[in-house]
Amino acid sequence: MSSLQGKIAVVTGGNSGIGYASAAKLKANGATVIITGRSEERVTKAANELGVLGIVADVTSLSATDNLVEKVKSLHGNVDILFVNAGIFTPAPIGQITEEVYDTQFGINVKGAIFTVEKFLPILNDGASVINLSSINAYTGMPNTAIYAATKAALNSFTRTAATELASRKIRVNAVNPGPVETPIFAKTGMPEEQLNGFAAAMQERIPLKRIGKPEDIANLVAFLASDEASFITGGEYNVDGGMNINPLLS
Ligand SMILES: NC(=O)c1ccc[n+]([C@@H]2O[C@H](COP(=O)([O-])OP(=O)(O)OC[C@H]3O[C@@H](n4cnc5c(N)ncnc54)[C@H](OP(=O)(O)O)[C@@H]3O)[C@@H](O)[C@H]2O)c1
Repeated sequence: MSSLQGKIAVVTGGNSGIGYASAAKLKANGATVIITGRSEERVTKAANELGVLGIVADVTSLSATDNLVEKVKSLHGNVDILFVNAGIFTPAPIGQITEEVYDTQFGINVKGAIFTVEKFLPILNDGASVINLSSINAYTGMPNTAIYAATKAALNSFTRTAATELASRKIRVNAVNPGPVETPIFAKTGMPEEQLNGFAAAMQERIPLKRIGKPEDIANLVAFLASDEASFITGGEYNVDGGMNINPLLS
């Protein structure tokens, strides 16, 4: 396993799902990890379980992000790994897209992500790794996901430009595109359990490897992209989706 010994890692939305598993993996590989999230209770619980520092910071608040950066700077100086993971999924069919559906998803998934990078930039070490958590939805026409998919397409576009601009500081910027991964994100949509199970079964059927992803599947790639072993990799996007994005016509 690649060593992240001596590296400082910040994981936004690290109290749950993919962020939680990634924080655990980064720590297991030797990094000092700070997780964030928007609820004091959830962040504290997860931080205690993981044995890492937890800081409450809502990515939609630029002043909260400023405070987060200040705290991290005062405790650890500079940052080597920034995992921009916090995100939400609010399905809505076209024709029922409200301003709130648009604003909350773009506010967290795009504005929140971009200003996380923007605000951390002054304390990122040269050679740091920024990993943006996107989705294969950026490339798919899955019903009810027009706004969510657009947020992830925007994030991937931002990733490419950031990779070019930050290369002069040897800061690498990559995006990870998961397929469906078993996390609380789906239950947070308010869909009844029966509908969620049907949704999961239908998606699993479309995945060539015939299983839903685990948060650890994503964490493994995050840890690799964070490491010096990935030192020639920037501006890329990597699907971790059991082959779903191949969109096989027959299986
Ligand atoms: N699960 C999937 O199938 C899947 C597939 C592709 C991409 N993704 C992406 O993966 C990322 C992580 O999602 P997940 O599946 O692990 O879901 P999750 O378990 O719901 O985790 C999302 C994390 O982001 C945090 N968060 C949400 N809004 C925030 C805000 N305004 N400020 C700070 N933190 C915030 C959540 O905190 P709370 O506890 O307060 O909600 C939680 O810690 C998201 O960007 C999502 O779009 C997920």
